[in-house]
Amino acid sequence: MTCAIDVDHVFFRYDEFKMEDIKLQLHIGEQKALAGLNGSGKTTLFKLLLGLLEPDSGDIYIFDKKLTKDTLWEIRQDVGFLFQNPDDQLFAPTVWEDVAFGPRNLGLTKEEVEDRVEWALDRVGMSNFFNRPVNQMSHGQAKRVALAGIIAMRPSILVLDEPFSGLDFKMVTNMIDIIQKLRQDGASILFTTHNSFFIENWSDSVAVIKEGRIVYDGPTKDAMRSKVVTENVGDWGRLKQQILSSRSTFLE
Ligand SMILES: Nc1ncnc2c1ncn2[C@@H]1O[C@H](COP(=O)(O)OP(=O)(O)O)[C@@H](O)[C@H]1O
Ligand SMILES: [Mg+2]
Repeated sequence: MTCAIDVDHVFFRYDEFKMEDIKLQLHIGEQKALAGLNGSGKTTLFKLLLGLLEPDSGDIYIFDKKLTKDTLWEIRQDVGFLFQNPDDQLFAPTVWEDVAFGPRNLGLTKEEVEDRVEWALDRVGMSNFFNRPVNQMSHGQAKRVALAGIIAMRPSILVLDEPFSGLDFKMVTNMIDIIQKLRQDGASILFTTHNSFFIENWSDSVAVIKEGRIVYDGPTKDAMRSKVVTENVGDWGRLKQQILSSRSTFLE
């Protein structure tokens, strides 16, 4: 069966840290959480998925295409990656230029590029900021602009590293709303979190990583009864209450 992402027995090591025998699948149309405590290997796994790091052994397939130096460019057109810190992602002088960078590289016409940038900025609620220098935004605004740059490429897979971290409550609900719309448009989504609320409410399945190994992978409905899951994610009761009590304001 074709998967959006298929990680097949991947091993990788930094000096002090190793990822061992990682097997992970993101099915087409699925929204999957990758959970784990700080330092468990989530970002390392994402860098492997993007070809920023190379496995010591094992293979990664994106829609059945093996990730290699030769396929990397082509595969990256299909995968939109949101970095944990938007400062690592934004580099053009203005918001508009930043979001236009990817579509321009696709060789689209000027009109097509403009349409995509407008659509993407509108989708993340940042249209009014089009002329703003990228270094003059709050963390949450920068994160949304970074997401606009990704969705302007119309990727079929979104890989989001801690999309909710560092956002205030209003921004969290905003980000949830944006991601839901992308999913309705057909995207397959893999996101990292160490927050049980997002696992419970926004994922179909969850994989848990601990010290560089996948220690759980299954449907979310069963996951929260598993000790290995609850031990490796935080309890965010207060955020949960806030979000549930204000649902109607963002889930229309
Ligand atoms: N460039 C690097 N060189 C050496 N060790 C690293 C590097 N990046 C991350 N690590 C180590 O790899 C482990 C996993 O880190 P990371 O994948 O960032 O975890 P997470 O995203 O789950 O918090 C940590 O112990 C971290 O210190
Ligand atoms: Mg990380």
